[in-house]
Amino acid sequence: MQVHQNISLKKYNTFGMAVTAKHFASFGSLDELEEALHFRRDNAIKGILPLMILGGGSNVLFTKDFDGLVLKNELLGIELTKEDPDYVYIKANAGEVWHNLVEYCISNNYPGLENLSLIPGNVGASPMQNIGAYGVELKDVFYELEAYNIEERVVETFSIDECNFGYRESVFKNKYKGKYIILNVTYRLRKKGVFNTQYGAINVELERMGIKEVTIRHISNAIINIRTSKLPNPKVIGNAGSFFKNPQVSKFTWHVIWEQYPDVVAHQLDDMNYKLAAGWLIEKCGWKGFRKGDAGCHEKQALVLVNYGTAKGEDILNLSDEIIASVERKFGVKLEKEVNIV
Ligand code: FAD
Ligand code: EPU
Repeated sequence: MQVHQNISLKKYNTFGMAVTAKHFASFGSLDELEEALHFRRDNAIKGILPLMILGGGSNVLFTKDFDGLVLKNELLGIELTKEDPDYVYIKANAGEVWHNLVEYCISNNYPGLENLSLIPGNVGASPMQNIGAYGVELKDVFYELEAYNIEERVVETFSIDECNFGYRESVFKNKYKGKYIILNVTYRLRKKGVFNTQYGAINVELERMGIKEVTIRHISNAIINIRTSKLPNPKVIGNAGSFFKNPQVSKFTWHVIWEQYPDVVAHQLDDMNYKLAAGWLIEKCGWKGFRKGDAGCHEKQALVLVNYGTAKGEDILNLSDEIIASVERKFGVKLEKEVNIV
């Protein structure tokens, strides 16, 4: 394990922000992680050296240089750990690329992750914000995870209840923020999986592809087609996916908006609550396709803010604040950022 000084993070974040980390190291084993944390303690000033764990950098916006230690998680390995009549249990180390895990499961005909195809980033971040797409969330297939308690210097196991998953939320983003490093995640996959194709566009795409007998590979391919048709490829245009969450509002708020805009895109959660499509709200405010310098709002998906090349984190952040203010003025709904601002 080697600690490097003043390293550019440009290639380590999908927004392509050219900030610098004061110290940077990768770890591929628990021993290397402990060595790096030892370095952190030795180099702390008045007991403090900020720490950031980095996976694929696809859910962060760096707005300034990082005056601390960035640790890139490179713990690799995927294995089948257990099998019973109904389920297989797949354990993946946190540094594995998420889509590689999806591919592993599809190739072995283990259903459950196919709807989460092509989400960028690594396994270790998947429980952080309970990743979700096309009708499936991580919590639907989660079994347990192991995480390193930074202060106590021990590995702890978390069950699904202890993770407190919600929409793009977990205990690691809230109560335990900055306290744990996720080392591995075990997923429990049903052997006889139920195909999840309710999310409108999936069936339309399967039909367009001419699929008669659906397999998990077909679902994965359909989702990859849908995603690539509207989400910008971070290798071409910098972004971190949805910049905001879809807001949950009361039935009353939804009704007030609906009376004026009957085309409002909303999903009823229960008798009292609705989830609104933030992309629709932002588009209605006229931001879709907006560009100021190299900071912009994507032309095909208004929920995605983009860096066309030389935008700074501050430019994206300022644009996001302007969008939040304008959506609040027009609809009385306050959008919440989904991306981690560093
Ligand atoms: P990073 O950006 O590296 O880290 C995210 C946060 O988790 C940071 O706070 C980091 O410190 C922390 N963290 C990372 N690893 C660990 C660890 N091992 N232990 C402790 N903390 C850790 N997300 C969805 O949910 N659904 C989507 O459909 C989706 N589509 C996307 C499409 C695009 C084009 C892009 C660019 C992003 C998309 N995202 C989506 C967001 C992103 O891919 C996910 O949030 C992903 O899980 C982030 O993984 P990462 O490894 O890149 O995390
Ligand atoms: N819409 C618009 N204009 C837009 C964008 C969307 O009107 O510019 C409306 C359309 O009616 C569309 C609806 O909003 O049908 C929903 O759009 P989409 O299917 O693209 O999904 P989303 O709600 O915008 C969420 C997730 C995505 C996930 C998709 C698919 C959040 C914050 N985002 O987006 O996750 O891939 O659903 O399940 O929940 C991410 O988290 O980074 C991410 C990309």
